[in-house]
Amino acid sequence: MKIAILPDNEAIGKVGADILASTLKDKPDAVIGLATGSSPLPFYRELIERYKAGEISFAQCKAFTLDEYIGLEPNHPESYVQFIHREFVDHVDFAEGAVKTPNAQTDDLNGAAADYDAAIKEAGGVDFQVLGIGSDGHIAFNEPGDSLASRTHVVFLHDQTRRDNARFFDDDINQVPKEAISQGLGTIQEARKIVLFVQGKGKARAVREMVEGGISARWPASVLQLHPNVYVLADEDAASELELISNYREDWDNFASANL
Ligand code: GLP
Repeated sequence: MKIAILPDNEAIGKVGADILASTLKDKPDAVIGLATGSSPLPFYRELIERYKAGEISFAQCKAFTLDEYIGLEPNHPESYVQFIHREFVDHVDFAEGAVKTPNAQTDDLNGAAADYDAAIKEAGGVDFQVLGIGSDGHIAFNEPGDSLASRTHVVFLHDQTRRDNARFFDDDINQVPKEAISQGLGTIQEARKIVLFVQGKGKARAVREMVEGGISARWPASVLQLHPNVYVLADEDAASELELISNYREDWDNFASANL
């Protein structure tokens, strides 16, 4: 993993945008995996600015979001389809229909999950995957104990995740859905490049386990240790429990001076 420990959200957004810009330079029709949650927002804001400045375009890109709540109306403001359009997609130039989200509005959720994996495959796979991480180490909605090789599937959300996400639902855990449809860890691991955004002390333990812990379903993000091309863009608080922090700083400075 390449670990960048950055001073603030602005720096995190800019480094993420630099990495995506280099992907788009090589492949203007890249397939992008989009994550919801608050962590990638500085990155999306930076992308919107660069798009408005005429520096990047998504006109030839396709995109797939990671997950969707089950049981919310599609026009509910906290459904992930609404979130990603509001915070990013509607501000840039994706072609009509180029951004796909898992279909949670069907009686055949397992069929919808299989169709989603098939659609990602048909698009040629994900070139650049955006990720956040939950305080319990989940990525997308792959909770602790779930398979490290799973495909897109229906998941039950743990109380910790529902408590964390209650802030988007009037601080009322009862309004947070109990189920979601989520890309699996096996699906996510097939992306060619993964960039994970993480901020805050509340994520410090999850970051330590992801980077330095054993690979285990207890901390689902630890599976990323097996991926050859992962960037973790963290602030000082999120990185604060890393044992080898000075090594990561040194490695990143060397990498960034040669590549960014
Ligand atoms: C949700 C999403 C994840 C996200 C996580 C962290 O559970 N399904 O994709 O990474 O929350 O969210 P945040 O970035 O708001 O802390």
